[in-house]
Amino acid sequence: MKLREVWKDVKERDISSMRGLLKFITCGSVDDGKSTLIGHMLYDAKLIFADQERALELDSKIGSRDGKIDYSLLLDGLMAEREQGITIDVAYRYFTTEKRSFIVADTPGHEEYTRNMAVGASFADVAVILIDAAQGMLIQTRRHVRICSLMGIKHFIFAINKMDLVHYDKNIYDRISRDIKRFMGEFDVDSIRMIPVSATEGDNVTEHSFKMLWYQGETLLEYLENIELVNYSGQEEFLMAVQRVSRPNHNFRGFQGQINAGEVSVGDEIIVLPSGERAKVSGLYVTNQEMKTAQAGQPVTVQLDREIDISRGCVICKNTSVKAAGIFTAKLFWMDDEALIPGRNYWIKLGTKMLPASVMHIKYKIDVNNGEQIPAESIYKNELAVCDVILSEKCAVDVFDHNKELGSFIFINRISNTTSACGTVMHTLRRSDNLVWHETDITKKIRSEQKNQNTRTVWFTGLSGSGKSTLANELEKRLVAMGRHTMLLDGDNIRMGLNKNLGFTEADRVENIRRIAEVAKLMNDAGLIVLTAFISPYEKDRENAREIIGDDFYEVYVSTPIEECERRDVKGLYKKARKGEIPNFTGITSPYEIPRSPDLIINTKVMGLEDAVALLIEKLRQPSGSDGL
Ligand code: ADX
Repeated sequence: MKLREVWKDVKERDISSMRGLLKFITCGSVDDGKSTLIGHMLYDAKLIFADQERALELDSKIGSRDGKIDYSLLLDGLMAEREQGITIDVAYRYFTTEKRSFIVADTPGHEEYTRNMAVGASFADVAVILIDAAQGMLIQTRRHVRICSLMGIKHFIFAINKMDLVHYDKNIYDRISRDIKRFMGEFDVDSIRMIPVSATEGDNVTEHSFKMLWYQGETLLEYLENIELVNYSGQEEFLMAVQRVSRPNHNFRGFQGQINAGEVSVGDEIIVLPSGERAKVSGLYVTNQEMKTAQAGQPVTVQLDREIDISRGCVICKNTSVKAAGIFTAKLFWMDDEALIPGRNYWIKLGTKMLPASVMHIKYKIDVNNGEQIPAESIYKNELAVCDVILSEKCAVDVFDHNKELGSFIFINRISNTTSACGTVMHTLRRSDNLVWHETDITKKIRSEQKNQNTRTVWFTGLSGSGKSTLANELEKRLVAMGRHTMLLDGDNIRMGLNKNLGFTEADRVENIRRIAEVAKLMNDAGLIVLTAFISPYEKDRENAREIIGDDFYEVYVSTPIEECERRDVKGLYKKARKGEIPNFTGITSPYEIPRSPDLIINTKVMGLEDAVALLIEKLRQPSGSDGL
């Protein structure tokens, strides 16, 4: 059975016949025998077709177990995996027994693939953690348990594998079980079970082992078939995250999505988050069929009795603890090769909403071994941390333990578009609850019209000594001569005042640029043309500045090569940096990320000051994002 066919099969089944579906994940370190275990389960339960079985036997002849069936070949679908002898992606398998249907996510054991494991864990209800009986619990095992717990798994099965290699010794099993119990003490779980198995020999996988008569419990498959999951969602509550607004004609406006929890009926009063507006349900459709009531799991179209502003990501609810929040405390598992730096901007995907967000503050990181809280300023790949997250605008958020969908999120790197982290909401914070944006009568437009100009922030970026300040200074003189009202913000000057508490670490530079961008925006609001001269070496931070400043942002990359900057060395800093006297010096011991699509590039090595300023004036006169000057 091919994976794709299997999924088709799952999709085509009626939801109601899948009531017994159990989603589980297998985690283990490399060589713990995960794939073999699942393969064995599928094989014993006669869940594969005969021709596939034969193929397996043939394959095994060239496989690693001398003509015996190598069950892991069943799962290791990709050639590359087989060649390396490890599993490298999340493989989802569907199988069914007389008692229950299962979907299993088989995830890689290698540390570098932990990200895939987190993805698999977010979908599962139960984790099967494999432990090599000869090795006991490893750091990897502990990390896997923490990630599973972070992603909301409440049922843990520890399959203590390779019992055959330790002569089915009960003492070894007992010792490992004790270690597990001690470690699991701090986790909020519903069930923990230990099962001694041999994945290759089949002991206690689907059939009871005669070699471990001291173990009286269920086999792994029996246990999986019988485990009961508790449903946490409240009875009275109704929640639906809007996925789409449907407007087929002038008379019809409906909000579509899948009901996350509870039920809703025509006539119910509902609240829309984040706005908090109220309305009554005037119509309900489940797949084009008009209904009086709809329940959790159903895809619905909801009509309301009055016009309110609702878009994708809004949540329609009733009797709920879900709140509109802009700040919350969360547990975060970091997966990006680049470190997490507070203040830096990411996309966050929370429920059906995607919006900019950043970590405001790292409270502490968590030692995966013992749960200890360790103070930290940045978080690196594969680390767990507790942080305060701030969203660019309020949206519907819930505590993860109460609602998986509105309480879990991922961070997406805005440059590489890869998943940087996954996280779960611990509690919302009220800090901005009592702040309300106040519209003033005198607007930015009135202020700039009074000055007879269009506003702009000309953002110069480039290495130290590249000529940013000189260009900005000369440009400002020209603009003032033309009767324009301006302000120049320059790196060294701002660092002597507003930003005197900031240094040159990556985190401090992020904050330096964020503050400058906010100040530039305020000055644009005051009707001024702003010129800024900062190295601003990180692309993400310049993107953040663009976001804060909006259409007024005009990026000029001063591309003078480092050799030329160093030759000029106006402030003597390159010489000092080369001697090792200045840490984190841009271009030498700290990176400069070249802008990918600046509005203008000026190389002061080849273009004189006069020409450069003339070019700038000419470009700024042309209307671009905002009107010409
Ligand atoms: S930024 O990287 O955060 O944008 P900013 O433009 O404010 O830097 O400040 C750069 C100026 O600070 C340089 O022109 C230089 O005079 C001075 N400076 C002192 N230490 C450093 C350093 N380690 N790296 C770069 N510039 C430094």
